[in-house]
Amino acid sequence: MSKTIAILTSGGDSPGMNAAIRAATMVAVAKGHRVLGIRHGYRGLLDGKVGPIGADDVNGILREGGTILHSARSRRFYDAEARGHAREVLTQYGVDALIVIGGNGSLTGLTLMSNPDEAGDWPVRCIGIPASIDNDIALTGLAIGVDTAMNTIVEACDRIADTASAHGRTFIIEVMGRDCGYLAMTSAIASGANMVLFPEAARTEEELVNSIVKTILTVRERHRENQKVVAIKAEGVPTPTERLKSLVDAKLFEATGEDHEDEDVETRVTVLGHVVRGGRPSAFDRLLGSRFGNVAVRAALEGEHRKMVSWLPPMDLPEGAGTRAAADPYCYLVDLPTVLSATKQLLEGQSPLARWRATAFDDLEDVFLL
Ligand code: F6P
Repeated sequence: MSKTIAILTSGGDSPGMNAAIRAATMVAVAKGHRVLGIRHGYRGLLDGKVGPIGADDVNGILREGGTILHSARSRRFYDAEARGHAREVLTQYGVDALIVIGGNGSLTGLTLMSNPDEAGDWPVRCIGIPASIDNDIALTGLAIGVDTAMNTIVEACDRIADTASAHGRTFIIEVMGRDCGYLAMTSAIASGANMVLFPEAARTEEELVNSIVKTILTVRERHRENQKVVAIKAEGVPTPTERLKSLVDAKLFEATGEDHEDEDVETRVTVLGHVVRGGRPSAFDRLLGSRFGNVAVRAALEGEHRKMVSWLPPMDLPEGAGTRAAADPYCYLVDLPTVLSATKQLLEGQSPLARWRATAFDDLEDVFLL
């Protein structure tokens, strides 16, 4: 029997969301089902912005950044009454399954909306797809968009390294990631930066300043000709980047007596900001989005409910929290409420993965400096 599957994208967009929309739509249509696209996330759902989408609508979107369904952050959705209205809208449209593509906040919305204590025996099957450049969602190795964002950061860092090298300057490059240091940590390795500052390490402002100054002095001592220093800083580190720069310059002046008016020694700051969130998805994100879209639709049609599709979780899943997806051995279906509690632990630094992230670079600090 033909079913109706609704898809929405929510929260910060991420490159590869379109690949997931496309794959979910094409798999559903090929199997004789109807697909509805909900525009502007949960806000659009509350406003009834729902319409059919077919293979023609998703043709060619694979290579586009952003999301053809548009996205939004909806405060209204925190209200149980609004979520009740959202369930009514979906019921009016005859929806059998809802696929939500988004980050932590979007998956929280889906979990609340499908909570049996609130929704009763509401029959709509709910499946989440992790999509966020931050990679701050637990129990999945990667979310959609992380790889593209990392490639964008690395390209920017390569460019900055050229000019930093020409002038023998220090750059602090701030990258997105909200409260999570994943993007900063991985792009620091992939770009060959001299150091990385991330919130999980929980360093005091003084420790941050001292570590940058130590790096600058060590590089200057070791490399007479190329005195470039690139430090990648996650946006989640509480000290504002401009303040950090001023503190570093002051400390350096104090330590060396060098006058930054006369020399090229003043630190430069680049905040990459939303540049990191846009652009054509990498091949990997196109593939990951396609994988997730395929698995999500098949799971929904098989009656799975309150699950998130996951890709190669980095740690063992908690007992009974998930199973390998029948449609794709690289993917898992994980219990949504468990994903959210594990994500909370991750962001609060309480999970084994969080602890590993917090200490992983301690030992590497000297390696980065070589
Ligand atoms: O969650 C994705 C993200 O890009 C974060 O890295 C960043 O902190 C935030 O969204 C920015 O949000 P907005 O686009 O609403 O300014």
